[in-house]
Amino acid sequence: MSQVASNLQIDSARLWETIHETAKFGATPKGGVRRLTLGPEDKQVRDWFKKACEAAGLEVHVDTLGSMFGLRKGRDMSKPPVGLGSHLDTQPTGGKFDGVLGTLAALEVVRTLNDAGIETDAPICIVNWTNEEGSRFAPAMMASAAYAGHFTTDDILSRKDAEGVSVAEALDDIGYRGETPVGTQKFLSFVELHIEQGPTLEAESKTIGVVDSGQGVLWYDGKITGFESHAGTTPMPLRRDALAALAEMVLAMESIAKKLGPKAVGTIGEAVIANPSRNVIPGEVAFTIDCRSADAAIMEALDQGLRQAAAEISARRKVEVALDLIWRKPPTHFDPKLIDAVENATKSLGYSNRRITSGAGHDACNLNTIMPAAMIFVPCKDGISHNELEDATQADCTAGANVLMHTVLALAGVAS
Ligand code: GLV
Ligand code: MN
Ligand code: MN
Repeated sequence: MSQVASNLQIDSARLWETIHETAKFGATPKGGVRRLTLGPEDKQVRDWFKKACEAAGLEVHVDTLGSMFGLRKGRDMSKPPVGLGSHLDTQPTGGKFDGVLGTLAALEVVRTLNDAGIETDAPICIVNWTNEEGSRFAPAMMASAAYAGHFTTDDILSRKDAEGVSVAEALDDIGYRGETPVGTQKFLSFVELHIEQGPTLEAESKTIGVVDSGQGVLWYDGKITGFESHAGTTPMPLRRDALAALAEMVLAMESIAKKLGPKAVGTIGEAVIANPSRNVIPGEVAFTIDCRSADAAIMEALDQGLRQAAAEISARRKVEVALDLIWRKPPTHFDPKLIDAVENATKSLGYSNRRITSGAGHDACNLNTIMPAAMIFVPCKDGISHNELEDATQADCTAGANVLMHTVLALAGVAS
């Protein structure tokens, strides 16, 4: 690599400014971001991103699930590009960094290479994947999963949000149902920078997490059906209270995950009482479950434990407990050569580091099933994420973006 390329650093102030500029799209009063996938704020940030990509000389195209690709030519256009990026959608009460850092750092890498006049051998392609978060449409990371062939495009287009709006309708509403068939844009490999979203790096004062694995995920839609009846007149032993049964399911989830710990987590994050009324015993409750582990055997045990708990609660309380497994994502083991590339870039830049497992799901986990993929983590304050308080320092974000750039340069090669 030339002297210029090996000493290259991204523009920290410019990266920081773009993170804060895009945080205006869906800004919440508490300093977070609410930018649900394919909603009006997502359109705003997508329009901003498209313009910024074009201004940086990238050729932008959008696939039929709305994922955005910005291609920077390389010397050898017979090679597929090295991919880098993440997502710009957020949780309903999300932060400024989850997904945003990886996408805008990818843009910053391009801007830095442009400023330095560096041409890579293979092209590079920056990506904003549609619906990583999964809070409006399930499952999470649906566009990269379709890209990897885990779902068909038509299946994903037909998924509906809580209001009955389909992905296809939502894409049309904001004008982002692109022309490029999903999977057309090929990659040599893919690298994603992200905040850790957990407490490990901060606790150990490490700047970079070299991600070697990721947790598998089980998502269920659940429904408990009991019997609605009068809150004043129905004696306690005669009730079939769906909400009381759900309370037991919540505690069962907690205890199953704790028993299988520390490598297991389980959460009931949504619950909706049908026809709620203060003086009616709840007769029907819908809920969701998210449980995860990086160990396939523990995932199996989580599933078994949940099903046993559901059967036991159902029989004892005389309610029906339905658990529908809507998504099973196996644990991820990132590509060893790419992990080494991230580690080498980190060491050559002199940043403290450790190997780490991702607790969260990421588009790179899906992509890793069909191409070499890797991830770079930087610390976030108090390990907090999926929360408006989510925070990270400019220095750590800069370090992560530098590692991203040097990993990509090593993978794409610098034209001589
Ligand atoms: C994605 O944000 C996840 O739920 O891990
Ligand atoms: Mn994310
Ligand atoms: Mn997230």
